[in-house]
Amino acid sequence: MSRKRVAVYLIITAVIILFWLVFSPPRWWLNLTKSVDLSNPVATGEQLVSEYNCRRCHRIGGGGSLKAPDLAGVTERLDDVSLRLWLHNPKAIKGNTPMPNFHLSDSEIEAIVAYLQRLDTSASSGRKN
Ligand code: HEC
Repeated sequence: MSRKRVAVYLIITAVIILFWLVFSPPRWWLNLTKSVDLSNPVATGEQLVSEYNCRRCHRIGGGGSLKAPDLAGVTERLDDVSLRLWLHNPKAIKGNTPMPNFHLSDSEIEAIVAYLQRLDTSASSGRKN
Protein backbone atom coordinates (compact mmCIF):
# COMPACT_ATOMS: atom_id res chain seq x y z
CA MET A 1 0.00 0.00 0.00
CA SER A 2 1.30 3.44 -0.86
CA ARG A 3 1.85 6.03 1.84
CA LYS A 4 -0.81 8.21 0.31
CA ARG A 5 -3.38 5.44 0.54
CA VAL A 6 -2.49 4.76 4.19
CA ALA A 7 -2.96 8.46 4.93
CA VAL A 8 -6.39 8.43 3.28
CA TYR A 9 -7.47 5.40 5.37
CA LEU A 10 -6.22 7.07 8.54
CA ILE A 11 -8.18 10.24 7.79
CA ILE A 12 -11.35 8.27 7.03
CA THR A 13 -10.98 6.34 10.29
CA ALA A 14 -10.44 9.56 12.25
CA VAL A 15 -13.55 11.12 10.71
CA ILE A 16 -15.65 8.05 11.57
CA ILE A 17 -14.41 8.10 15.18
CA LEU A 18 -15.12 11.83 15.41
CA PHE A 19 -18.69 11.34 14.15
CA TRP A 20 -19.19 8.52 16.65
CA LEU A 21 -17.98 10.61 19.59
CA VAL A 22 -20.04 13.64 18.58
CA PHE A 23 -23.31 12.05 17.46
CA SER A 24 -23.51 8.83 19.44
CA PRO A 25 -21.07 9.25 22.30
CA PRO A 26 -20.52 6.17 24.48
CA ARG A 27 -20.94 6.45 28.24
CA TRP A 28 -17.21 6.18 29.03
CA TRP A 29 -16.52 9.14 26.70
CA LEU A 30 -19.24 11.29 28.30
CA ASN A 31 -17.95 10.40 31.76
CA LEU A 32 -14.45 11.30 30.68
CA THR A 33 -15.28 14.63 29.03
CA LYS A 34 -18.38 15.90 30.85
CA SER A 35 -18.00 14.81 34.44
CA VAL A 36 -19.02 17.38 37.04
CA ASP A 37 -18.00 17.82 40.66
CA LEU A 38 -20.60 16.27 42.99
CA SER A 39 -19.50 17.92 46.23
CA ASN A 40 -22.58 20.16 46.00
CA PRO A 41 -24.89 18.19 43.70
CA VAL A 42 -27.97 20.37 44.22
CA ALA A 43 -26.22 23.58 43.14
CA THR A 44 -24.53 21.79 40.23
CA GLY A 45 -27.86 20.30 39.15
CA GLU A 46 -29.51 23.70 39.26
CA GLN A 47 -26.73 25.12 37.08
CA LEU A 48 -27.02 22.23 34.59
CA VAL A 49 -30.79 22.65 34.31
CA SER A 50 -30.26 26.27 33.30
CA GLU A 51 -27.27 25.45 31.07
CA TYR A 52 -29.20 22.80 29.12
CA ASN A 53 -32.26 25.05 29.18
CA CYS A 54 -34.70 22.38 30.39
CA ARG A 55 -37.15 25.20 31.17
CA ARG A 56 -37.48 25.83 27.44
CA CYS A 57 -39.99 22.95 27.66
CA HIS A 58 -40.56 22.10 31.33
CA ARG A 59 -41.73 24.04 34.32
CA ILE A 60 -39.19 23.36 37.03
CA GLY A 61 -39.41 24.84 40.51
CA GLY A 62 -42.33 27.01 39.39
CA GLY A 63 -40.55 28.62 36.39
CA GLY A 64 -40.46 27.75 32.71
CA SER A 65 -42.64 26.56 29.89
CA LEU A 66 -45.51 24.08 29.81
CA LYS A 67 -44.69 22.50 26.43
CA ALA A 68 -43.65 19.43 28.41
CA PRO A 69 -44.80 18.05 31.79
CA ASP A 70 -44.28 20.24 34.85
CA LEU A 71 -41.47 18.46 36.70
CA ALA A 72 -42.95 19.23 40.12
CA GLY A 73 -43.22 15.90 41.96
CA VAL A 74 -41.42 13.98 39.22
CA THR A 75 -39.01 12.34 41.67
CA GLU A 76 -42.01 10.96 43.58
CA ARG A 77 -43.93 9.98 40.44
CA LEU A 78 -41.11 8.05 38.78
CA ASP A 79 -38.90 5.36 40.27
CA ASP A 80 -35.14 5.97 40.38
CA VAL A 81 -34.42 3.91 37.27
CA SER A 82 -37.05 5.56 35.03
CA LEU A 83 -36.11 9.05 36.19
CA ARG A 84 -32.46 8.43 35.28
CA LEU A 85 -33.42 6.81 31.99
CA TRP A 86 -35.34 9.96 30.99
CA LEU A 87 -32.14 11.93 31.44
CA HIS A 88 -29.92 9.26 29.94
CA ASN A 89 -31.91 8.46 26.79
CA PRO A 90 -35.48 9.83 26.50
CA LYS A 91 -36.20 7.86 23.34
CA ALA A 92 -35.54 4.60 25.17
CA ILE A 93 -38.69 5.36 27.19
CA LYS A 94 -40.81 6.98 24.52
CA GLY A 95 -39.69 6.57 20.91
CA ASN A 96 -41.38 9.69 19.54
CA THR A 97 -40.71 12.08 22.41
CA PRO A 98 -39.60 15.59 21.43
CA MET A 99 -37.24 15.60 24.42
CA PRO A 100 -33.69 15.65 23.05
CA ASN A 101 -30.92 13.37 24.25
CA PHE A 102 -28.51 15.75 25.96
CA HIS A 103 -25.78 13.10 26.17
CA LEU A 104 -25.42 13.71 29.89
CA SER A 105 -22.62 12.06 31.83
CA ASP A 106 -23.43 9.92 34.90
CA SER A 107 -22.37 12.69 37.28
CA GLU A 108 -24.48 15.28 35.42
CA ILE A 109 -27.49 12.95 35.75
CA GLU A 110 -26.87 12.50 39.49
CA ALA A 111 -26.59 16.28 39.97
CA ILE A 112 -29.85 16.97 38.08
CA VAL A 113 -31.65 14.22 40.04
CA ALA A 114 -30.36 15.72 43.32
CA TYR A 115 -31.69 19.15 42.31
CA LEU A 116 -35.11 17.78 41.27
CA GLN A 117 -35.30 15.79 44.53
CA ARG A 118 -34.49 18.89 46.55
CA LEU A 119 -37.28 20.84 44.79
CA ASP A 120 -39.74 18.02 45.50
CA THR A 121 -38.84 17.62 49.17
CA SER A 122 -39.00 21.35 49.81
CA ALA A 123 -42.36 21.52 47.98
CA SER A 124 -43.87 18.60 49.91
CA SER A 125 -42.61 19.86 53.28
CA GLY A 126 -44.22 23.17 52.29
CA ARG A 127 -47.54 21.41 51.70
CA LYS A 128 -47.43 19.74 55.11
CA ASN A 129 -47.08 23.04 56.94
C1 HEC B 1 -37.67 20.14 23.57
C2 HEC B 1 -38.39 20.06 24.81
C3 HEC B 1 -37.72 19.42 26.01
C4 HEC B 1 -36.54 19.78 26.61
C5 HEC B 1 -35.57 20.87 26.22
C6 HEC B 1 -36.41 18.90 27.76
N1 HEC B 1 -37.46 18.05 27.84
FE1 HEC B 1 -37.82 16.69 29.29
N2 HEC B 1 -39.49 16.07 28.33
C7 HEC B 1 -40.04 16.68 27.23
C8 HEC B 1 -41.33 16.07 26.95
C9 HEC B 1 -42.28 16.47 25.82
C10 HEC B 1 -41.52 15.07 27.92
C11 HEC B 1 -42.73 14.15 28.11
C12 HEC B 1 -42.56 12.92 27.34
C13 HEC B 1 -43.36 12.97 26.12
O1 HEC B 1 -44.58 13.07 26.21
O2 HEC B 1 -42.78 12.90 25.04
C14 HEC B 1 -40.36 15.10 28.79
C15 HEC B 1 -40.19 14.28 29.89
C16 HEC B 1 -39.24 14.47 30.86
C17 HEC B 1 -39.18 13.75 32.11
C18 HEC B 1 -40.18 12.68 32.56
C19 HEC B 1 -41.39 13.45 33.10
C20 HEC B 1 -42.53 12.63 33.61
O3 HEC B 1 -43.39 13.22 34.26
O4 HEC B 1 -42.59 11.43 33.34
C21 HEC B 1 -38.12 14.24 32.81
C22 HEC B 1 -37.66 13.82 34.19
C23 HEC B 1 -37.51 15.26 31.99
N3 HEC B 1 -38.21 15.38 30.81
C24 HEC B 1 -36.40 16.01 32.35
C25 HEC B 1 -35.78 16.95 31.54
C26 HEC B 1 -34.57 17.65 31.89
C27 HEC B 1 -33.82 17.50 33.21
C28 HEC B 1 -34.26 18.45 30.84
C29 HEC B 1 -33.03 19.31 30.68
C30 HEC B 1 -31.74 18.62 30.76
C31 HEC B 1 -35.29 18.29 29.85
N4 HEC B 1 -36.19 17.36 30.30
C32 HEC B 1 -35.34 18.96 28.65
C33 HEC B 1 -39.48 17.71 26.50
C34 HEC B 1 -38.29 18.34 26.78
